[in-house]
Amino acid sequence: MFKIFLLTALIAVSSQSPNPSKIPACTRYWISSFISCENFNTLEDLNKKLTRVFNGNDDLKEKGATVFIGSSKFGSLELNKFSTAKYLHTLYISDNYINEIPKKSLEGFTNLAEIKISTNRIKVLQEEIFGGAVNLESVTIERNNISSVSNGIFKGANSIKRLEIRESKASNFNIRIFQDLHHLEHLTLIFNDYTEISQDTLKNIKSLKELYLEYNNISDLHENAFINLHNLTILNLLNNKIEKIPENLFGNLFSLNELNLKLNKIVSLANSQFRSLRNLTNLYLAYNQLNRLSRDIFGNAIRLEMLDLSYNNLKYLHKELFLNSTKLTQLRLHNNFIEDLDANIFKNLQELKQLNLQNNNLKEIKEGTFKNTNSITDLNFENNKINCLFEKSLEGLTSIYELNLNSNNISIIANNSFKDLKTLQYLHLKNNNLTILNENTFNGLQTIIIIYLTGNKINEIELTTFEKLTTLKLLYLDHNSLIKLQPGLFKNLENLNRLFLQGNRIDSLTPEVFDGLSPLKDLYLADNNLQNLQGNVFENLLNLHDLDLSGNKLKSLPLELFKPTKYLDLLHVSRNNLTVLQDGIFSSTPGIRMVHFDNNQIMKIEPRVFEGLKSLLAIFLFNNSLTAIDETVFNGLDKLKVVRLDNNYISSLSEATYNRLPSLRYLILDGNKINMDELTKIYEKYPKPSVLFDDFHSVCC
Ligand SMILES: *[C@@H]1O[C@H](CO)[C@@H](O)[C@H](O)[C@H]1NC(C)=O
Ligand SMILES: *[C@@H]1O[C@H](CO)[C@@H](O)[C@H](O)[C@H]1NC(C)=O
Ligand SMILES: *[C@@H]1O[C@H](CO)[C@@H](O)[C@H](O)[C@H]1NC(C)=O
Ligand SMILES: *[C@@H]1O[C@H](CO)[C@@H](O)[C@H](O)[C@H]1NC(C)=O
Ligand SMILES: *[C@@H]1O[C@H](CO)[C@@H](O)[C@H](O)[C@H]1NC(C)=O
Ligand SMILES: *[C@@H]1O[C@H](CO)[C@@H](O)[C@H](O)[C@H]1NC(C)=O
Ligand SMILES: *[C@@H]1O[C@H](CO)[C@@H](O)[C@H](O)[C@H]1NC(C)=O
Ligand SMILES: *[C@@H]1O[C@H](CO)[C@@H](O)[C@H](O)[C@H]1NC(C)=O
Ligand SMILES: *[C@@H]1O[C@H](CO)[C@@H](O)[C@H](O)[C@H]1NC(C)=O
Ligand SMILES: *[C@@H]1O[C@H](CO)[C@@H](O)[C@H](O)[C@H]1NC(C)=O
Repeated sequence: MFKIFLLTALIAVSSQSPNPSKIPACTRYWISSFISCENFNTLEDLNKKLTRVFNGNDDLKEKGATVFIGSSKFGSLELNKFSTAKYLHTLYISDNYINEIPKKSLEGFTNLAEIKISTNRIKVLQEEIFGGAVNLESVTIERNNISSVSNGIFKGANSIKRLEIRESKASNFNIRIFQDLHHLEHLTLIFNDYTEISQDTLKNIKSLKELYLEYNNISDLHENAFINLHNLTILNLLNNKIEKIPENLFGNLFSLNELNLKLNKIVSLANSQFRSLRNLTNLYLAYNQLNRLSRDIFGNAIRLEMLDLSYNNLKYLHKELFLNSTKLTQLRLHNNFIEDLDANIFKNLQELKQLNLQNNNLKEIKEGTFKNTNSITDLNFENNKINCLFEKSLEGLTSIYELNLNSNNISIIANNSFKDLKTLQYLHLKNNNLTILNENTFNGLQTIIIIYLTGNKINEIELTTFEKLTTLKLLYLDHNSLIKLQPGLFKNLENLNRLFLQGNRIDSLTPEVFDGLSPLKDLYLADNNLQNLQGNVFENLLNLHDLDLSGNKLKSLPLELFKPTKYLDLLHVSRNNLTVLQDGIFSSTPGIRMVHFDNNQIMKIEPRVFEGLKSLLAIFLFNNSLTAIDETVFNGLDKLKVVRLDNNYISSLSEATYNRLPSLRYLILDGNKINMDELTKIYEKYPKPSVLFDDFHSVCC
């Protein structure tokens, strides 16, 4: 209600003229305190129109206004000519031709609290331009092309607390300009070309609390650069060119909470580098070239919560490196060259939640490493060189939620390795070297939801291996070396939704293999060695929706195969050796939406095979050996949208075959023996898509 009201009001008030010869108006946005003045040719006009907005609006005079000056054509901004100066609390000056702000321009702006000057043509910032604005707290200068700044620019603007200079070629800003800012608390100097912070640059800003220097080109930091910043809580030097940090640089930063040195070129740090930083909570050292850290470098950083050492050249970590960092919750050590971790290295980290060790060269996880780190929820060891999990490698991880061991070389998992991981939900063991899963492997995983075992060499799974995993929803066993699956192997997986078995060498299946899997929805058996299937093989899979049998050697499908799977939705039997699609095969699956029979040797489709399939959206029969299509075969398929019959030997298709299908959009017949005229006619009615699709989403949604 209010929104609509506001919108109409807005339209009513902003009556700007498109006619350039007419003087534009300043526009007040309804009852807000925002006034926009755009497209003025002269400052005098602007002043007149602005005054008009204030006249008769006592509320504006009382509360103060925000004025935006945009797209103006005048060059000099002599703001002190404004008769309304004292009513402005905020001033934005953007996208103008302004090339000069004269000295003492803000005289009379006694209530101005904030000014922002962006994207103008100003080259020179003169002395005392902010003088007179006695209550000015916040100044932003951005996206300008300033080449010279007077030392006295901030003279007379004593109350500034916040200064931001960004994208303004500010390397030319003389460092002495900050001298007058005795109350500055926040200084942002990002995306400029600063190369150094000298002894004098920040010397007088003792009140500074936050200093942002990221994205400059700073390589030179004077050892006294931060000497007076006792109250500094945030120092950000991200993305500069720092190679060496003077030993005492941070020596007086007793209040510092956050120090960001990410993306520099730091090779080494002095032992005492962080000694004064007892209040530090976040330390970012990622993306440098550190190759060693001394034993007690973090010894005084006793409040540290986040330590990021990722993407350095660390090979070795001293076993006492984290001894005093008992408050750590996140520790990032990934993408280094760490070869070995002492079993006691994390022993005091009782609050640690996330530990990243991926992309290192670890060969093992020593027993007891996590004995005391009971708070860890995320642990990542992906892409190391671990060969084996010992019985106590993971002992103590009693709060863990996700464990990633992908892409190691694990061939042995000791019995009961996961015993303590009672809260684990995601277990990643992709691309390892496992051959056998024994009955005790997964003991203890009481809340597991997904296990990834893709890309191992598993050829044997003991019968009771999965017996206790009653919470498991997804099981990835694809791309292994399985040949046979024992009857009852999955029988207790009462929550299993999806079972991935593609890319193995399975050559036979019995109904008992799927015992207990009545909740299973998706079964992937593609690219195995199945040559024939028993008619009742899926009799336990009463809720099966998606079935993939592609890439096997099936010559036929038993007529009763899909009798029990009444909810079958998507069926893939591509790349097999089928020759006939038989009447009756889909008689119990009325909801099926998509059938894939491409790349077989199908010569014949019996006339009533699709009878009654009111939900069928797509039929894929390309790359087969069909010579003719019975003209009744698609009768009644009211939802049918896509039929691909390309690359067969069909010589003609009767119009009756397709012209009563109300939803048909694509009928692909390339690569048959149909003559050009007939084909052209068909494609006129059903234009070919630019990409021939054979997946679910492009058809259904
Ligand atoms: C910035 O100013 C320099 C000279 O001071 C000039 O060469 C350059 O073209 C200007 N750049 C822009 C984007 O105006
Ligand atoms: C530093 O912070 C303290 C506590 O907030 C304050 O009393 C003191 O005045 C500040 N120092 C400066 C130089 O601003
Ligand atoms: C950064 O500084 C280096 C010298 O330290 C200089 O060669 C380079 O041109 C500078 N880059 C920019 C973008 O200013
Ligand atoms: C350090 O942090 C503690 C707790 O937050 C605080 O009481 C103390 O004043 C801080 N010390 C400094 C020097 O900022
Ligand atoms: C831990 O802190 C104590 C007390 O401040 C200190 O003596 C010790 O050297 C520190 N240990 C390490 C490894 O940093
Ligand atoms: C993987 O582990 C086996 C021993 O289990 C070892 O022979 C082999 O060299 C390891 N491979 C790699 C790439 O580390
Ligand atoms: C696990 O325990 C079984 C006995 O239950 C034993 O035969 C097997 O060797 C053990 N496996 C490992 C990896 O320790
Ligand atoms: C897997 O382990 C076997 C010995 O257990 C080893 O010979 C082979 O190199 C390992 N495979 C890889 C890819 O490391
Ligand atoms: C099965 O089909 C493949 C390729 O479609 C073919 O190479 C193979 O000879 C066929 N096998 C039989 C037994 O027909
Ligand atoms: C159709 O069969 C040919 C020859 O076997 C093969 O090259 C092509 O990739 C197949 N097309 C599709 C879309 O599978």
